[in-house]
Amino acid sequence: MVLLDGKKIAEDIKIELRQALAQIQDAGEKVPHLATILVGDMAASQTYVRNKMKACEEVGIKASLFHFPATITAEELVQKVEKLNQNPEIDGFFVQLPLPAHLNAEMITLAIDPRKDVDGFHPENLGKMMLDLPCFLPATPFGITEILRRYNIETSGKNCVVIGRSHIVGMPMGLLMSRNHPQGNCTVTVAHSRTKNLKEVTRNADILIVAIGKADFVTADMVKEGAVIIDVGINRVQTTDGKSKIKGDVHFESVAPKCAYISPVPGGVGSTTVIALLMNTFRAAKGKKELTTS
Ligand code: GUN
Repeated sequence: MVLLDGKKIAEDIKIELRQALAQIQDAGEKVPHLATILVGDMAASQTYVRNKMKACEEVGIKASLFHFPATITAEELVQKVEKLNQNPEIDGFFVQLPLPAHLNAEMITLAIDPRKDVDGFHPENLGKMMLDLPCFLPATPFGITEILRRYNIETSGKNCVVIGRSHIVGMPMGLLMSRNHPQGNCTVTVAHSRTKNLKEVTRNADILIVAIGKADFVTADMVKEGAVIIDVGINRVQTTDGKSKIKGDVHFESVAPKCAYISPVPGGVGSTTVIALLMNTFRAAKGKKELTTS
């Protein structure tokens, strides 16, 4: 079994980005600038945002945080988005999700200029992804394709099962794995809460990508011998000593011995998700929106 070391991949890409950014600076060009909109005080969102901003600093991307109270109205938030759309200093930005219940994430996302939508959540970017046109790919699926690429994992002709149909992970992931591309050409099944006989479906997977948000959901009996397992889950669970820890959607201890490759949690997909956002920001600044890094 090979551990898919997302942290190592993220470090490698950081070195590549740092070099590219140093060249930009040496040429006297503008340093890329990523802005974050954070609404409210959700602890998990604050942690994610902190990690993204720290990663920016590490590679030399300028990062700004616009933090608003949970009481902000939709109209006020759209105004803030429009200000960032118009600000030439900002190359890309994103609104950290989830938003408080009174704010509609789709409506806010629609207000973002697609050329600055480094999360790749705007319908224009999602539509372009569907058509295989240059666009910003959503960070988590983009990061996963980088893991597959950098580990030289053959995907062509394989059965790929994605568990979860969210707009930010499961659906785009299924689309990317089915496209005609070096990290694609799979026969894809997107399974979800209404899927019948899930175990039969997952046991047929050469590549199993799990993004369901339930700790230890995938057990060894659901996995084909020699499969590639990508665990997208980030679940905080209580431990017996009253503390908590992060667990993935896959029961690592039982599944790992059965498979050819597996991404751990933490240290797997989470690390590449952050770096994919940085890659998109770099491209936004360069005005060069490519589907992949290759
Ligand atoms: N919340 C969880 N994942 C994401 C992400 O990739 N982008 C944003 N904006 N919010 C998130």
